[in-house]
Amino acid sequence: MRKYDLESRLLHGGDYNPDQWLDYPEILQDDLKLMDKAKANTFSLGIFAWSALEPEEGDFQFDWLDRIMDNIAEMGGNVILATPSAARPAWMSKKYPEVLRTNERREKMLHGGRHNHCFSSPVYREKTKIINRKLAERYKDHPALLMWHISNEYSGECHCDYCQNNFRQWLKNKYVTLKQLNEAWWGPFWSHTITDWDEIESPSPIGEMQVHGLNLDWRRFVTDQTIDFFEHEISDIRKLSPDVPVTTNFMADTYDLIPFQSLDYGKFAKHVDIISWDCYPAWHNDWETTADLASKVGFINDQYRSLKQQPFLIMESTPSGVNWHDVNRTKRPGMHLLSSMQFIAHGSDSNLYFQWRKSRGSSEKFHGAVIDHDNDENNRVFKDVATVGHALENIKSVKGMHKCAKVAIIFDWDNNWALNDAQGFGLHSKLYAQTLQKHYRPFWDNDIAVDIITSEQDFSKYDLLIAPMLYLVRKETMERLQQFTKNGGTLVSTYLTGIVNETDLAYIGGWPQELASLFGLSVKETDTLYPAQNNFLIYEDQKFVVNDYCSLFDVSTAKTLGTYGTDFYQGKPSLSVNQYGKGNAYYIGARTNSDFLDTFYRSLIQTHDLTNKWIVKGNKYVSVQSREGKQEVYFMMNFSEAPQSIQVAGRSIDLITGKKLSTTIQLEPYEVFVVKRENQQ
Ligand code: GAL
Repeated sequence: MRKYDLESRLLHGGDYNPDQWLDYPEILQDDLKLMDKAKANTFSLGIFAWSALEPEEGDFQFDWLDRIMDNIAEMGGNVILATPSAARPAWMSKKYPEVLRTNERREKMLHGGRHNHCFSSPVYREKTKIINRKLAERYKDHPALLMWHISNEYSGECHCDYCQNNFRQWLKNKYVTLKQLNEAWWGPFWSHTITDWDEIESPSPIGEMQVHGLNLDWRRFVTDQTIDFFEHEISDIRKLSPDVPVTTNFMADTYDLIPFQSLDYGKFAKHVDIISWDCYPAWHNDWETTADLASKVGFINDQYRSLKQQPFLIMESTPSGVNWHDVNRTKRPGMHLLSSMQFIAHGSDSNLYFQWRKSRGSSEKFHGAVIDHDNDENNRVFKDVATVGHALENIKSVKGMHKCAKVAIIFDWDNNWALNDAQGFGLHSKLYAQTLQKHYRPFWDNDIAVDIITSEQDFSKYDLLIAPMLYLVRKETMERLQQFTKNGGTLVSTYLTGIVNETDLAYIGGWPQELASLFGLSVKETDTLYPAQNNFLIYEDQKFVVNDYCSLFDVSTAKTLGTYGTDFYQGKPSLSVNQYGKGNAYYIGARTNSDFLDTFYRSLIQTHDLTNKWIVKGNKYVSVQSREGKQEVYFMMNFSEAPQSIQVAGRSIDLITGKKLSTTIQLEPYEVFVVKRENQQ
């Protein structure tokens, strides 16, 4: 890995667009003064600045960027320098229409917007190569340069002829023969056998959408092609500035903050030096509690930490509201510090914002920013940001510290795509990612660290591995799950597991043998319930309501722990455990609510002794997360609108304020402490 720890401080600052303000020199001067006041130290520059950098083809203008970079260096700040490929100048689209994307309906898009270039276009590749090389040559040794920010939020897909050819070539490399491709895609279904590679077209609503093997391969191709474009973008940067790390900003999906759906970030993570991502929770919304949302924020940040098993960066967040939620609420007092500390608590080494200064025009002029249109440092949001800046300076010792989790939950992109595509079960009730969030919650409530990993990552370091709804499961994954359990691990699986292979073909001949022996049972049927229907899972004399899915299975070596409460399968097993080697494999046959998950995981938490002994009495509104280095630092965060308290085993000191805390810690609404124990150095 390339080094990124060029500064031993937590990064604070964000997307800075001086290219929008080149005609306002007094504003650029104000920026510098205000950066200091906000305790901001790092700025992402040039993200959408291509037309300022190359206003006409071949006419490169770097003077403005030189000045800004020099000024930031002079003030002791750093720059995360972007390649500008996320938006392009109009002259380019006009002269070279091939750079424009073609959508899935095969319509050529017009110039406009952003994040909409064709990843295959030879011209776009050439143009990005030229400008990226010039940026690297000019700034590789600049004292402000901390990191490369490659493009912005890579996403989307193109269906032009170049992309079709690349897709066909990708398929040829994968399947070699059409016979193998037709086998994988179940060709004879509806007479869809392919007889010439040129017959293959990417999925389209005006063409093919029903061949699930094709859909899955297309999603994989889009990931590989995006990574290929990223690799193309960094090739000269790597050569010219080998010690400067590269990143690109990842995303999450929807208000629910579920893992990003369109790219396999598990694969992408291997190509970046450090993961960075953009996090925009809808705090203070009217459909969930603050703790409910905080737990989802925890989940997704844990995923970004786990993908590379190292600290990550929050590349964008907002100091107040955004502009693209249905309702763009501003943060209540206290929430900005609390939510910023939560990022650090889960393993981020930064809180960077979109955006440093609100633009005057166009769609983002009302998006939250450090500096509002009033340009006033007495603005409440500005003061909140400065408070975070101070806090980050005071807790800078956590930079680079790790989090050690003994529990992992598997999120698998291939599985996610295949499951969402499956036309069966409940079309709208699969909710894979949301189900994982529910399995995560008991651990968040009990202040236990969790990693969110892919099915390809190492399982051996965990005591407890939770793999719900692994509908698509490779032979190799099944063997690795067996190995994990045989060696003493505890594995938890659920309904809708082990149904198709890696090309989305159903396993035939019953539940896969590897799973049958691992779980000591065989799944025979899955009953899908209408939304208003339910059944019960009877466990330890309690009756838990179950919804959506009930799998019917016969146990062989497994012990039945729970049974169904009603319907034609009343009394049949609904929950089981199988001893396998030195470990245990649990199978939860039905979709339960959080009451069951709380009870079930509480007993596993006890068996595995997972709780932190320093927390004598926790509180489900107060999330406690720790980061570990030479010392352990605890983040205690009150995600509620009421005062809360927790008890800990010894006295501690809050690193933000220097305040000494006794063993009973009172937290005001939204209050946060970042503490180290008193007896630690
Ligand atoms: C991000 C994007 C930024 C800005 C921000 C607004 O997705 O990278 O450029 O648009 O959203 O929340």
